[in-house]
Amino acid sequence: MIEHNHKAYTAQKKAVIKEFEEHFGLAPFWLVAAPSRVNLIGEHIDYCDGFVLPLAINRYVMIAAAPNGTSQANLLSTLFPDEPATVPLDEPPEAGEPYWANYIRGVFDGFREKGFWPLPGFDALVHSTIPLGAGLSSSAAIEVAAATVVEGLLGIDINPKNKARLCQRAEHKFAGVPCGIMDQFASIFAEKDHLTLIDCRSEEVQSIPFADDSVEIIIADTQVQHELSDGSYSNRRKQTEIALSILGKKSWREVSMEELEAAKNEMSDVVFRRARHVVSEIDRTQKAAMALARGKTHEVGELMAASHRSLRDDFEVSCRELDIMVDAAWAIGQEGGVLGSRMTGGGFGGSTVTIARADKAEAVMDEMSRRYKEETGIEPHIFATRAVDGVRLEEL
Ligand code: GLA
Repeated sequence: MIEHNHKAYTAQKKAVIKEFEEHFGLAPFWLVAAPSRVNLIGEHIDYCDGFVLPLAINRYVMIAAAPNGTSQANLLSTLFPDEPATVPLDEPPEAGEPYWANYIRGVFDGFREKGFWPLPGFDALVHSTIPLGAGLSSSAAIEVAAATVVEGLLGIDINPKNKARLCQRAEHKFAGVPCGIMDQFASIFAEKDHLTLIDCRSEEVQSIPFADDSVEIIIADTQVQHELSDGSYSNRRKQTEIALSILGKKSWREVSMEELEAAKNEMSDVVFRRARHVVSEIDRTQKAAMALARGKTHEVGELMAASHRSLRDDFEVSCRELDIMVDAAWAIGQEGGVLGSRMTGGGFGGSTVTIARADKAEAVMDEMSRRYKEETGIEPHIFATRAVDGVRLEEL
């Protein structure tokens, strides 16, 4: 059985406070923890008015911060200790070096755009346990953490949906990825022991209880880095827009599979396949959410398998390593304790998500690791997670 405890959270919190004190010579005033997410199903459809079903996981960006009485932010990241950033808070932020600070600059710019400008100066230490480029939305977590620090600084709580959009804007404008809203919504709205069902058209959020001790969520990082800012993500997004305009519809929610099939000859094969992924994935995600809401976890397996095939063959965002990892899980099979497995997140590398029976979870992880290593020569990073709460701010 896998032990889940809060030791890692507490240890990270202690570490970030200590590092802040060592670096800035005083105690921090706030501690913010923003989790990363894994998406169970509903991939590449958040920007298509679809549904997504993520949960926040026990990997966090934490920021310790304190006001510094100046008009600038002094930012240090333990991931890039040699690249501290000084950002003026009285002139419009611009993307630049160091690159890691762009997500935070983008958040500052979002506040500026909303009229909160200039911002009061502060010192901040950023610490993360989220693997980078693993498809677990480390960028959304840093944006959400930074926005929450600024809220603390200003003594305000902005509407959480506006906060998510502000963070999404930072990603679009300062990181060059035209992402949807899933990652920022998950990091903000997630609840412990729940999945977060997001209707990306109405932006309604529903928490679905998910505290079944008989299953574990396993994340397998292929250690093949994904890079969504290289154009492959925006290219997919554009293809879905082309398909929708050919279909003459305002929203993907108005498109049935029959209508799409009927319009097949009006679009290229690639655009048709992108569209087929969108329409089928919206349907699968609704079905999965309904099954999980009724506690029927075992019914989700086939939907996850179909989702992976669709992402691999129609949307073409998987890669050899992701396919090998997913195949490794399915080869273990139901008998061995695997209920479902698929790639998760943006793709082109990154991670897979697997639902496994709790009593077999450890053996499943070992076997996935063994098979993956045998075929790729790469040592994967595999861990189990529970659904945790969204972002929290603590006044210390
Ligand atoms: C990235 C984006 C999300 C979403 C996923 C794919 O994580 O940030 O908005 O589009 O890819 O589902």
